[in-house]
This record gives sequence, structure tokens and C-alpha cells, in this order.
Amino acid sequence: MTDTSEQDRVLIFDTTLRDGEQSPGATMSHTEKLEIAALLDEMGVDIIEAGFPIASEGDFEAVSEIAKNAKNSVICGLSRAQIPDIERAWEAVKHAPRPRIHTFIGTSPLHRAIPNLTMDEMAERIHETVTHARNLCEDVQWSPMDATRTEHDYLCRVVEIAIRAGATTINIPDTVGYTAPRESAELIRMLIERVPGADTVIFSTHCHNDLGMATANSLAAVEAGARQIECTINGLGERAGNTALEEVVMALRVRNDIMPFATGIDTTKIMNISRRVSQVSGFPVQYNKAIVGKNAFAHESGIHQDGMLKNSETFEIMRPQDIGLSGTSLPLGKHSGRAALRAKLRDMGYEMGDNQLKDVFVRFKSLADRKKEVYDDDLIALLRDAGAADQNERIKVKFLRVVCGTEAPQSADLILEIDGVETRETCQGDGPVDATFKAIKALFPTTARLQLYQVHAVTEGTDAQATVSVRLEEDGKIVTGQSSDTDTVVASAKAYVNALNRLLVRREKSAPDSDVKTVKYTDTV
Ligand code: KIV
Ligand code: ZN
Repeated sequence: MTDTSEQDRVLIFDTTLRDGEQSPGATMSHTEKLEIAALLDEMGVDIIEAGFPIASEGDFEAVSEIAKNAKNSVICGLSRAQIPDIERAWEAVKHAPRPRIHTFIGTSPLHRAIPNLTMDEMAERIHETVTHARNLCEDVQWSPMDATRTEHDYLCRVVEIAIRAGATTINIPDTVGYTAPRESAELIRMLIERVPGADTVIFSTHCHNDLGMATANSLAAVEAGARQIECTINGLGERAGNTALEEVVMALRVRNDIMPFATGIDTTKIMNISRRVSQVSGFPVQYNKAIVGKNAFAHESGIHQDGMLKNSETFEIMRPQDIGLSGTSLPLGKHSGRAALRAKLRDMGYEMGDNQLKDVFVRFKSLADRKKEVYDDDLIALLRDAGAADQNERIKVKFLRVVCGTEAPQSADLILEIDGVETRETCQGDGPVDATFKAIKALFPTTARLQLYQVHAVTEGTDAQATVSVRLEEDGKIVTGQSSDTDTVVASAKAYVNALNRLLVRREKSAPDSDVKTVKYTDTV
């Protein structure tokens, strides 16, 4: 194998906080965005696309603060092909030690029809906007949105214009996840061969996963000459998501024999950030997801286990430790003390101050009283709930008793504390969860619609905690709440209340958290 320091470097451009966060229901709070950006920076991501500053005051605030806190990563802000967008992006990223402006316009026939520009008018707009961006910032990335469905001659023409106007990175998006590996490679090769000045810029690939080919398409683009991959943690993103960072990075590492390219990613940080992104976005990671799924390193069948015991390479192409999973993880129990908890959390990548640990320890003890063995995943769920409580939630579940079983009616008796005042309601429903949600709605009426209710077991066994996700929609604003408990109905009530609290934050327009999106990148130019 070639020494990776001599290998071609592929830049990792993470857009979890922009394309990922834009996916309906994945909205993160201001504090959560800062935390994820710090983790991305720490794991060696080359470029962080921190948001779309013109979209809202909240996006602008988040991008500016991420820029101010940046250590090593380049901080990038997205803008449409409009002067005010570009100036707003620059205002937000300019505080970063290494800022980047990313500007884009839809170039395919379907996308050109939206702003109703002729081919020449669009070419002129590209020249004008990229020139403007380059006058503000030395590092300018330009994207022809829906590039994979743009006529090749026109694509070559506009890429050349962007390069002449000063773009330093040309990103080729497969916006609708339509391309396939061979075509993805041919497109990059064609651009590098045909466009004058192509050797002066970095070509980048940005794939969506609608046909499940985003990782393969990104790697094919790299083999053809692209040297930047745009991706998100857990493949978070609109519709079927974006290329998953963990997949491309681990593929380049594990199959370095046939894809001799290096990244700057510390892969041992992958698992921690994957869990964090799943928690803050409210998007669970599917069990059999490559690299970070719960089952990715589980060897259940007898023949596999036998092979694994003799030689782990029999069925494992990478080690759990490579992505930051400790191979042997012993559960904690009710006799485990504060020091054991602190050591375990540290092992899992969580450093805690004394006060924070105190709160987490109380929660841990209460869980250990109900559950014999407390596993890593239980602790992660517990930390998420502790984090939510930290955010001074205005509504709290104080008491819940349900009547359920084969005989109707099922009912819920609920006490909520709302802004410090306790109120009580009893409701009947089709089952205990329905009755509980009716009681919540009676105590705190809103026009929010329940879009999703999902339950999954954190670990195995009948005493396992259930994690419940609840997604609510109100006037186009979508929020997701989550909570875990050994009692599924309690977890459901708390998840619903957590979503309501997030909705309240989003209603307060002036706070950075309340980023009511006014502009989407899919809006016309
Ligand atoms: O998918 C896409 O085309 C995008 C662009 C804004 C780069 O996300
Ligand atoms: Zn995209």
C-alpha cells in the first residue's frame, strides 16, 4: 500500500449544517449547530458549509459564530446568484481565519426555465456574481445546480466563465440523485479535458442519494479527477439525503489499494459525531446503515461468530475502533459510582464538567434502578434528554398515569408544568399514547399537526428503553422532539412535549434559534 502522505489528497466538504439541516424536520438549534461545527472541525473536515446566511437571521447568526470559532476548517456560506445573497454570505463568513463563499445557479433546461433567463443572460449573471464574490473573498466556489442534467456544451461554457471570473472550486451537483457511477466519472473527465483553465481549479462532486448511488457516484468522480467530495454526516439531507461522509471516508481508507487517495479525517471521531447529529436532527440512523448503523459491526449468526472468534478479519473489513467504537464495552449497573460513569462517558468521547456530571449521574441512577444493565446506547439517550432539559424547556411532564389493556376506554391522567404553573387533564383515546397526546393538546392547544410518531428500542430485552421521535408541523415550520424511557408512553409524552418546546423556540422570531426559513436554496434566483 502507498504511504498515504504521498497520495493525492481528497478534500472533505461537509454540508450537514446546510444541505443536511435543510431537510424537513432536521432543523437544529443555534447551540446545536455550533456544537456540530466544532466536532466537524476537530475531526479534520477541510471545509464546513455552515449555512445559507440570506435564508434567515438565525442562519446568518449561526454561520458568523461558527466562522468566529473556526480553528482549522475553511468556513463556507451558501448564496444564490444574487449580489445581496453574496454580500450576506460574505458578512457571515468573513470572521473565519479561512472564509469561502459558495454561489450557485440552476443550469439545466428545467432550472433555467424558473428564473426565465436565456442561456446568454444566465452566462452573464454567472460572470457578474462570481466576479463580485471573488472581489470580496479569495476562496470562491461555484456550482451549476442540476449539472448532471445540463447540456454538456452549455455546462463547459458556464464552467469556463466561472473559472475566468475567479472561482477556485467548481462543484458539480447531482441535485436530484439521477446520475450513475460511470456517467459521474465521465462528466468530470469531460470537464477537465474540455474546459480551458480546468487545471487551475479543484473539481468537486456533490451527490444526492435518490437512487442509492451517492457514495458510488462520488468515488467515481474522484477517480476521474475530482478532488473534493461534498457530503453530510449519516447522509442527512433532503429526500434520500446526500453522500454520507462516513461512507466515502471509510471506503477511501479500507480500499486504499484500489483508490489511493487520502483524506484528513480522524476516523475515530466518526461514531461520536454520527450519534450527535442523529440526536440533534431527530433523524435516527437505520440499523443496517453502512459504517454507523447499530448492526454494522454486529455478528449474530453462529457461523459468523465462530469465524470472528478465530480471526476477526474473517467477516470484518474494518475494526470497530477505526470509527471510534470501543470493541468491548461493559454495561454499567446500579452499583456503578460517579467515577465509573465519568470514565465510561470519557471513553465514549464525552467530557463533562462537575455540574453536568452531577445531573447526568442522578438520571443514570434513576435509570439503573429500573434497568439492570445500562449500555452505551442507554447513556447516549440519557445524555440527549439531559441536553434537552438544559435548554430551559417551558413545558415539562410532571405526572402521567395511563389506563390501558383489552377493555376500552383507555385513558391518560396528565400533569404538565407550563411556565412554572401545573395543570391537569384526563383524556380518553384509542390506546394510551393517543389518550396522552389528547391530554397534552388539551393542556397546551396549538395548531401543530403530528407528522410522524416513531418508536424504537435503544437496546434489547423487555426492560429496554424506548426512544420516541415526534415530528410536528405548524405553518410550514417543522420540528422534531425525542425522548427515551423504559416506559414507552412516558417517552412518547416527553417526546411530544420536547417537540412543542422546540416549536416555541422557533416561534420567537428574534432569537437566533428561531430561524424561520424565509428563503430556500430551491427558491428561484
Ligand atoms: O444539490 C444541490 O444542487 C445543492 C447546491 C446548492 C450545491 O445543494
Ligand atoms: Zn444538495
